Amino acid sequence: MKGDAGSLAQAVKSRLSIVEIVRRYVDLRQNGRRWVAPCPFHQETKPSFSVNEEEGFFYCFGCQASGDLIDFYCRINGLDFKDGLAQLAEEAGISLRDVRPDPARDAANAFRRQALRLHDMARAHFTANLNAQGGAECRAYMKRRGLSPEIAKAFDLGWTPREWQDLTDAFKHAGVSLDLAVRAGLLGTNDKGRVYDRFRGRLMFPIRDLSGKTIAFGGRIIADEDEAKYINSGDSAIYKKGEHLYGLAQARRGIAQYKTAMLTEGYMDVLTLHQFGFANACGVLGTALTEQQVKRLSGFCSTVELLFDGDNPGRKAALRAAEMFLVRGLRCRVILLPDGEDIDSLLRGPGPDAFRDLQKSAPDGLEFCIRSLAAGYSPKDIMAWTQHFLRQIETPELLSFYISRVAKGLGLNEAELRAQAVQKRPAAPAQPGTGMLRPASVPRIGLEERRDQQIILFLVRYPAYAATLREMGVEDVFSTSWARNFWTKIYEHGEAAVTYLDEREKAFWVRHRLADAPPEAEEAQLQAVCDMVRRIRAQKQGKSYKAALIQSAGKGGQADIELLLAHLKTLGRCNE
Ligand code: UTP
Ligand code: MN
Repeated sequence: MKGDAGSLAQAVKSRLSIVEIVRRYVDLRQNGRRWVAPCPFHQETKPSFSVNEEEGFFYCFGCQASGDLIDFYCRINGLDFKDGLAQLAEEAGISLRDVRPDPARDAANAFRRQALRLHDMARAHFTANLNAQGGAECRAYMKRRGLSPEIAKAFDLGWTPREWQDLTDAFKHAGVSLDLAVRAGLLGTNDKGRVYDRFRGRLMFPIRDLSGKTIAFGGRIIADEDEAKYINSGDSAIYKKGEHLYGLAQARRGIAQYKTAMLTEGYMDVLTLHQFGFANACGVLGTALTEQQVKRLSGFCSTVELLFDGDNPGRKAALRAAEMFLVRGLRCRVILLPDGEDIDSLLRGPGPDAFRDLQKSAPDGLEFCIRSLAAGYSPKDIMAWTQHFLRQIETPELLSFYISRVAKGLGLNEAELRAQAVQKRPAAPAQPGTGMLRPASVPRIGLEERRDQQIILFLVRYPAYAATLREMGVEDVFSTSWARNFWTKIYEHGEAAVTYLDEREKAFWVRHRLADAPPEAEEAQLQAVCDMVRRIRAQKQGKSYKAALIQSAGKGGQADIELLLAHLKTLGRCNE
């Protein structure tokens, strides 16, 4: 299995460019041989995230996230390795037949593909409905709402007639299995097993993923009806509500261009913002903002404008959302809309200038949090909020920055806050080093671990010397199982070892492969490692004699002791 997945991974990596893949999610800039950006995996504004196209790796100097393009793809999409690899293989046009069969996985993948195809068919069917004669009612509604034809097109709006079997019939005619369509969430079934359209008499909003594929729908009633105003696709094999943002596929360019995203609630709000030229708007749909959504946005920009209702629940939601962006090191501004107004009604009523005024006077996220807390919360709640807020911040500089501002803003004791924060914090990750044989992260570890690291570090840089070191008996000198396992992989796979490494090994590998080449010549490094290996071997032998010596002394065997002492002398460096 491993071998198969390994060769498939190699094939995927040779056909797809890591830069092209990463670019779909992160706003990369070229910087010499590398591409850099703020890291999508941790909170920051500086570009610590770097992609090396030649080596095919990404690495973040801030959070040490690292790996190849498959790792990146899995991580940013929340997939496990197998699923991510399968999706990329499909994109690269590589047959999965080479991989050992896994019927459950194959079935899941096949279902996902079919669900995507059905969603695409449904989307096309709904837009055709809208443009057909039967769509007149919906077109009139859109006109009343002021939606332009361009926006309708850009967002692929559609219409589902007031019939129970419109899409059902369309699927039937196309030879689609209705059972499949039900499982994909596009059709429903009643108690008697009769299949029907879930969306009826609704203006349809396709929800897309970042590559533009339709993965779900929302639908709004267009008349005063005694039904839910909106219904939405439930979670499915291709859609998890909390992971997507409405309009992000369309807004991505604008977000990258303005380096700012606008986040609003609601389908109509997103459409109207785009129509009024705010091409960086996207929306959370009827749920609270999630961690994944925040992460996703932070891959594209460093500033977010949050548009919320000015009422009480709106303010609470804004406080929470602002906190989520701030702790990731993003800048945000909070724009509270006047009572009873959403951004759609504001732009269409009072107009864009009224909105720009609000935008200009919008408080910065932290200021908003501080003001809201100071105005409406008890001291106990303020303390609880502060501790919760600070605890989420991982970057020391960011923490320091916030502590003084929060302390000042809320009238808290800065020194105390600092002391509390330090107590709760694990040690910061060490920065990568570039010197010869100096491992990037040197936590307080013993001599033996450090030596293991130094040898592995050399091998990571020059896997071709594995055979040489083996002849010298390098296998006997490792003290840690970390090094022994790592060694085996490098010895067996050489340059290709990275495919077989676990998380921790991979981080080490990538970090040192990416670090600038040390000044010392390869030859000198090899010499240094060989010397070390010889020395450790000698020492280890010395130790085992010493152990034997002690044992033997206990038994009182004088002859043995003399023999051993002689041996130790020849070994020279027995310093323990
Ligand atoms: P709103 O009720 O504020 O609607 O719900 P809206 O977006 O302003 O739409 P219009 O202007 O009345 O046409 C905000 C969002 O909450 C979700 C939808 O995503 C909606 O856009 N929602 C609302 C639902 O999912 N279901 C509902 O029944 C209502
Ligand atoms: Mn509205």
